[in-house]
Amino acid sequence: MTAKPTIIDCDPGTDDAIALFLALSSPELDVRLVTVAGGNVGLDRTTANARAVVGLTGRAVPIVAGANRSLLADFRAETAVHGDDGIGGVVLPEGPPLAPGIAADAIREELRRAAPGSVTVIGLGPVTNLALAFATEPALLDRVAEIVLMSGAWTEGNITPAAEFNAWNDPEALAMLLNLGARVAIATLDLTAQAFVTPALIEAMARREGGACWRAALAIFRALPTSKRFGHRGFPLHDPCAIAWAIDPGLFGAKSAHCAMDLASGPSRGRTVIDRWERLKLPANVTLMETLDAGRFFAMLEDRVASLP
Ligand code: RIB
Ligand code: CA
Repeated sequence: MTAKPTIIDCDPGTDDAIALFLALSSPELDVRLVTVAGGNVGLDRTTANARAVVGLTGRAVPIVAGANRSLLADFRAETAVHGDDGIGGVVLPEGPPLAPGIAADAIREELRRAAPGSVTVIGLGPVTNLALAFATEPALLDRVAEIVLMSGAWTEGNITPAAEFNAWNDPEALAMLLNLGARVAIATLDLTAQAFVTPALIEAMARREGGACWRAALAIFRALPTSKRFGHRGFPLHDPCAIAWAIDPGLFGAKSAHCAMDLASGPSRGRTVIDRWERLKLPANVTLMETLDAGRFFAMLEDRVASLP
């Protein structure tokens, strides 16, 4: 198996942290670069969290800071879920310093070094950094194997009734990515709801021995609030689903679909209008993850993250 050269853009973020642990413990992915945006919390905290998480794994992956606002407006944080520090109050050792530069430039430099069609680009937050990179140098798309996003919803949103948090925080950036002509695999809220973490699951996972990363992951799971949307029975684990697709798409049921963005101001802004039943007869621009084998997903997550230092 040849590991996939991978770039991860994120806004850690509790579920981003778990996603980074999963990516950095998986031999299928050769994580070449982690870029960071604001989003769940401000860029000062998301960068500190990315440094701490990557540092805990012991992996020498460059971390580069990027956008602290969307293309058109400020980000709106989600501290009610992730805490003021963005990591659920879990205290981690300070990580390595940021690599110099700006995320969009670092993404382009990494793509420029890559072989044609070789790089998996994963977006776990507002995709401002990715949009800026490809808008500046669209020819670099020929180095990309696939773009994988945690974003959007085909039913209701989680930051407004219509929109999911990442899509809503920079809908123009997401619209740009969806119209690049690249293959974009998308894990929406409807998919991530199937990666559902309950108190019983956390306690079952806690019986697994592991190192500092696994203990940090368990502490994050225990810090996450249960979701009102799910009757406080637990919470959906969003970002690791995008990583899992890049590791093993066989965990998913998926189909091609057309996805349009609602960019109008007003209550539907940021909505991903996903045509699952081809009613508009428009060309597909996403690979839509529809189902997840949750048992295999959580077993993989536990095996991989528990294997970290
Ligand atoms: O809506 C969930 C998404 O928004 C996740 O990526 C979470 O980390 C937040 O960024
Ligand atoms: Ca995120």
